[in-house]
Amino acid sequence: MSEEEHAPEQNSLGKENFAPIEEILEGEHTGEEVKIRGWVHRTRDIGNMVFLNVRDPSGVVQTTIASDEFEEEKFEDLKDLLVESSLKVKGEVAKDERAPGGYEIRASEAEIVHASDDFPIHEDQSVEHLLDNRHLWLRSRRMRDILNVRSTVFEGIHEFFRDEGYEEFHSPILTPVACEGGATLFPVEYFDDQVYLTQSWQLYAEAAIFGMGDIYTIAPSFRAEKSRTPRHLTEYWHAEVEGLWHDLDDIIDLGEGLVLHLVEKVLEKNREELKNLDVDLEYLEDLEGPFPIITYEEAVSKLQDEGMDVSYGEDFGVPEEKKLTSLFDKPVFVTHYPKEIKAFYMKRDEEDESKVLGYDLMVPHVGELIGGSVRETKVESLERRLEEGGEDPSIYEWFLDTRRYGSVPHAGYGLGVERVLMWLCDLDHIRDAVPFPRTPNRYRP
Ligand code: 4AD
Ligand code: MG
Repeated sequence: MSEEEHAPEQNSLGKENFAPIEEILEGEHTGEEVKIRGWVHRTRDIGNMVFLNVRDPSGVVQTTIASDEFEEEKFEDLKDLLVESSLKVKGEVAKDERAPGGYEIRASEAEIVHASDDFPIHEDQSVEHLLDNRHLWLRSRRMRDILNVRSTVFEGIHEFFRDEGYEEFHSPILTPVACEGGATLFPVEYFDDQVYLTQSWQLYAEAAIFGMGDIYTIAPSFRAEKSRTPRHLTEYWHAEVEGLWHDLDDIIDLGEGLVLHLVEKVLEKNREELKNLDVDLEYLEDLEGPFPIITYEEAVSKLQDEGMDVSYGEDFGVPEEKKLTSLFDKPVFVTHYPKEIKAFYMKRDEEDESKVLGYDLMVPHVGELIGGSVRETKVESLERRLEEGGEDPSIYEWFLDTRRYGSVPHAGYGLGVERVLMWLCDLDHIRDAVPFPRTPNRYRP
């Protein structure tokens, strides 16, 4: 690009004092002269006047460009602008019922920052087209709204755990071990060896609590999950916690506490976004603890009573979890699963060794939101469970060491961040909870 193309125009649209469009729509600048900058959202040409709706990250406002306010050539250029062109506008704010949002800016000056090519996204385009153009679709109000809520959820997770006294700890992403079973590992070439993308922060966290005490993280987890369900990603963000001396009740409280904190936080910061997304605000506002707690056994018989074809010992799938959550008006904890359908590290219930001291927290539309457990502390039991799962215990030697030198009771859980967004934003598919989704058939853009 030549120097001239970057040279700023000579006008009074300098660097400072641009108003966020939101302030104009809230009536803060009515009757005043303001400067805004953003992108052309929509354009309408009525001959001697052009309406340019301008979008910035905070909102969309109508601007009117009248031919008698501009030199002819400038007016023609503004008139020819395509959607998504970037520009700066100066003008007086007027209340106008006819304008979308109730306000308009009567432009006295305008600077075209970049005249856009024909934007490849138009109305009513297929899901696949929008996914192919995700890098551009991120400009949509829907994606902006969801990603703003996502940002709040990350803030809320850090805030909750830190306020409760948990320190942030980081596990490696490249790892030689499986945490959640070999079937969903992504192999990575590691020079002459093979390692995997981590499925969970947990095993390393279990080593770290001996020094740091109670810890948490938010990090990516990877699952080579071929099942194409609306709630599975191959790369997702995972909020995990591990607590020293924690038992099942402690991690139930900690799970409920986090979920309620996130609800409170998004209601405080993202009401507008949630409304745009048609979320049932009343459901979120009325939500309070304690959440019901039932055993896996009770869950199976409830599902059978509902006429579902499920028998004791089977893992729940999406239909079972959806049905189950529909029977409660709050999220529900399901505890004491049979050990065969849960991970090797879960501690067995001393009262019934066929069951584990763990839970899944289920929410409507989504199903499992959190998976947590008390951890097995005996080396022999862990070795046996690994063998039963077809794993080679020798690769886990370092992990088994955590049970050889002053083993202590502890427990923890993992919450899928995109699943919590699916629930909070009422999304039909998990791919919209993340800016660039990774699923079995998509890793671009
Ligand atoms: O139940 P999971 O597999 O549990 C663990 O990974 C434990 N190591 C966590 C721990 O105790 N520290 O996964 C935990 C949560 C699930 O409840 C779900 O919300 C989410 O992670 N999750 C997924 N989210 C999106 N896509 C996937 N493929 C997911 N798999 C699990
Ligand atoms: Mg699970």
